[in-house]
Amino acid sequence: MAVERTLSILKPDATRRNLTGAINQRFEDAGLRIVAQRRLRLTREQAQQFYAVHAERAFYDDLCDYMTSGPIVAQVLEGENAVVRNREIMGATNPANADKGTIRKDFGESVEANSAHGSDSPENAAIEVAFFFAQTDIAD
Ligand code: CDP
Ligand code: MG
Repeated sequence: MAVERTLSILKPDATRRNLTGAINQRFEDAGLRIVAQRRLRLTREQAQQFYAVHAERAFYDDLCDYMTSGPIVAQVLEGENAVVRNREIMGATNPANADKGTIRKDFGESVEANSAHGSDSPENAAIEVAFFFAQTDIAD
């Protein structure tokens, strides 16, 4: 299995409750390395662009409101099978359906405020990493 990189976001509900360290511990305990990290506030345009794939969904406008409601932490995680591994660590989109011990089960507040984002494929990971980071921002 190849070493991969994936884009992770700690969402506004997580930064608001000071959960950056607790969530990062989950990644590091699972063997994923945080090779880039930046705290920022998304503009509405950035949120719309990042979630453009969901533009036709009923939840899109609320999601963009939510993602701009407070700071986020964008990060690049690196490790074996990092894309799938990170999604396992995060758990299902809806915290109510997520397995015990996952980030979304343990920290998520709702299907929208579910604490973390993770890329869903290596192809999207490359696009999403480039959305937030230059190659020179990443140190492994
Ligand atoms: O984040 P994930 O890839 O698991 O789910 P998604 O289907 O790509 O949806 C992106 C994000 O939209 C979710 O993480 C939720 O924050 C939000 N969402 C929502 O607010 N209501 C839904 N019914 C589905 C997703
Ligand atoms: Mg998704």
